[in-house]
Amino acid sequence: MFELIRLPYSPDALEPVISARTLSFHHGKHLQAYVDNLNKLLPASGLEELSLEEIVKKATGPLFNNAGQVLNHEMYFQQFRPAAESVEPPTGKLLQQIEKQWRTLDAFKAEFEQKGVGLFGSGWVWLQANAAGELSIAQYAGADNPVAHGLKPLLTFDVWEHAYYLDYQNRRAAHLVALWNITDWSIIEERYYNC
Ligand SMILES: [Fe+2]
Repeated sequence: MFELIRLPYSPDALEPVISARTLSFHHGKHLQAYVDNLNKLLPASGLEELSLEEIVKKATGPLFNNAGQVLNHEMYFQQFRPAAESVEPPTGKLLQQIEKQWRTLDAFKAEFEQKGVGLFGSGWVWLQANAAGELSIAQYAGADNPVAHGLKPLLTFDVWEHAYYLDYQNRRAAHLVALWNITDWSIIEERYYNC
């Protein structure tokens, strides 16, 4: 049985980037529903002994959709830090690789935002790494994610409307730009180092 993750910050900690109201629906209703559906679909699937990542790699149909959404949201919610804390830019190996491939962090962010804005419909924009540590930015529709494609998931922005509509309505671009103010790069670095 999978359980809803606890958020590592208080419900209003991400304001004004993500309101407590959005967070309560997104985490308490949307993610809870994916967890509940995953738990309903797992018995008799033959995959019930596997880790979430292994389920995502092997499942298809509704089981894939719900397992994928649980994995996506867990990584999404765990990569943020309270808005009141100052944001430290990435350092070390991750920054070196970003600068090698995009020249500057700002150029990387611009492509990430542009791919998030340009994704048609519901989905996720991801920073992912391959086995050689090379980075790429990818658009994934629905519940799809890097794990399903054998890649390492590092950073993700949720572009389903439920992630921002209460606070930003149709202004997806403004929401994505604001997310950098709560992105905890130390967590993204840790994910990259564990590649
Ligand atoms: Fe979401």
